[in-house]
Amino acid sequence: MLRSATLNVMLKAARKAARILKRDFGEIEHLQVSLKGPANFVTAADRRTEQILHEELELARPGYGFLGEEGGMRTGSDQTHRWIVDPIDGTMNFLHGIPHFAISIALEREGTIVAGVVYNPASDELFTAERGKGAYLNDQRLRVAARKNISEAVVACALPHPSRGDFDRAQREHNTVQGKVAGLRRFGAASLDLAWVAAGRFDAYWERNLSPWDMAAGLIMVREAGGYVTDLDGGDTMLAAGDILAGNEAVHRELLRVLKDAGKT
Ligand code: IPD
Ligand code: CA
Ligand code: CA
Repeated sequence: MLRSATLNVMLKAARKAARILKRDFGEIEHLQVSLKGPANFVTAADRRTEQILHEELELARPGYGFLGEEGGMRTGSDQTHRWIVDPIDGTMNFLHGIPHFAISIALEREGTIVAGVVYNPASDELFTAERGKGAYLNDQRLRVAARKNISEAVVACALPHPSRGDFDRAQREHNTVQGKVAGLRRFGAASLDLAWVAAGRFDAYWERNLSPWDMAAGLIMVREAGGYVTDLDGGDTMLAAGDILAGNEAVHRELLRVLKDAGKT
């Protein structure tokens, strides 16, 4: 597979940050059993990872804007490009020693996501996508699952905390979808949920109250793997609205209808 210079820049940054993050993850195991717990350690790992990513990306593409979960928005001299970065997506998993978390890097050009990298250092699974060039897991081309019927679908979702968003609506959505699909899953890293839809492991995924860095890289992966991604009104405002639904055309269409119905009181 041929990767663009820009994707190579993103990969180099992800791999460099991942080397240290993987070492940090090894430490977590020890910290689980200490009374102090790993919380402060994880905060430090989060910041350090974002700092490495920022340094590497800035060095290779000076002037690009940078939106990171830890540091917020840093405007660059180049108004047309910005990186959208989550240094650790799946922090709760990381904190508990669960090897399901990822570094997520997206590149936005004039408001459109044009490239994405989602890398899980613990499993060494590297998901990449570029606009018009397909999505890959390591060197293998990805396609979304072909299942057409939601009764056969395995669907990823979130289990939101009662204090976040509209909890009653979330419960209605869960109850309704659970009765219509083969299985619901909550794995705890939005970027990987999307990458796994691209890989055909999940048939679909939906979530509300997300931030742009949770989904920017994953959404181009699904689209480049032939899938559909919209907000929960069926529009294209995922990053602004903070909600997302991804899947193949048939499952996406059906789930959008089911979720809309469930949302009505
Ligand atoms: C979280 C994860 C999780 C999603 C949360 C996000 P973080 O990101 O992506 O799967 O349900 O809404 O905030 O905090 O681990 O970077
Ligand atoms: Ca996140
Ligand atoms: Ca994070």
